[in-house]
Amino acid sequence: MAHKATGHKELRQAVAFCRRMSAEPPPLAIVLGSGFGGVMEAFEGKWVETDQIPGCPRPKVPGHAGRWGWGRLGKAPVLLLSGRVHYYEQGSMAEAIFATRVLAEYGVQNLLLTNAAGCINARWRCGDLMVVRDHINFMGANPLCEMGWKSFADFVDLSATYDAELRKWLHASALKAGLKLREGVYLAVSGPSYETPAEIRAFERLGAQAVGMSTVPEAIVARRYGLRVAALSCLTNMAAGLAKTAISHEEVITTGKRNSQQNSEVIRIFAQKFAPAPKGG
Ligand code: HPA
Repeated sequence: MAHKATGHKELRQAVAFCRRMSAEPPPLAIVLGSGFGGVMEAFEGKWVETDQIPGCPRPKVPGHAGRWGWGRLGKAPVLLLSGRVHYYEQGSMAEAIFATRVLAEYGVQNLLLTNAAGCINARWRCGDLMVVRDHINFMGANPLCEMGWKSFADFVDLSATYDAELRKWLHASALKAGLKLREGVYLAVSGPSYETPAEIRAFERLGAQAVGMSTVPEAIVARRYGLRVAALSCLTNMAAGLAKTAISHEEVITTGKRNSQQNSEVIRIFAQKFAPAPKGG
């Protein structure tokens, strides 16, 4: 049955649930897409199933667990969202952005979005990690339409969607982890079909280096609320037409798993920027 999670009442109840988990919102929330599951191993804290959070839709895609964790990565307090709801699951932006709205209304100020994506740049390799510099919304829908136009604040400025300082920290974290970090433009499609080679050639001309089915709705909504946003893509496959083999979800999951440990180390190091300053001294 389709999950209905659009109302203000559900949103208020979900935020109240979060406050009961921790009155103080963690400074950083991280949404874990395919290829970043390893972060959970470094995490210490308490998990709740999304079913327990009022109004919160549960991800249906294999590889997306659907749990929220309050705890720590090293010394940094974080809220981990293991798995996300995609637009294509029900054709519903309301469901795809519910979690982001809860995070924002709860008071989380920094959001790291991670995803698996197809690699459009033929010079890069399957398994590369890319920090998102900017995006192209090719989903055919804008998540803000779901929130109802209320004021001129809804004409959200997206000229600096992905925070420059957070991107710098991600580069520094990758360097520390001994990993080469790409940087590029993420183009979001609605899915759930993968693209045609002609589409990928067109997207390349439009200036995209990666293609995926998530992240952009969450980033737009987070900017609407004024959060600082960063995003990382694990390039799990060469995009359509760039490899001899067909693209499959299995390939996405397998490449993601293979790179999960090193990707997660970058995130663990990055999160330490949000550790509280040591007392005294
Ligand atoms: N296209 C769209 N979304 C994706 C891909 C892709 O090639 N790989 C992982 N997510």
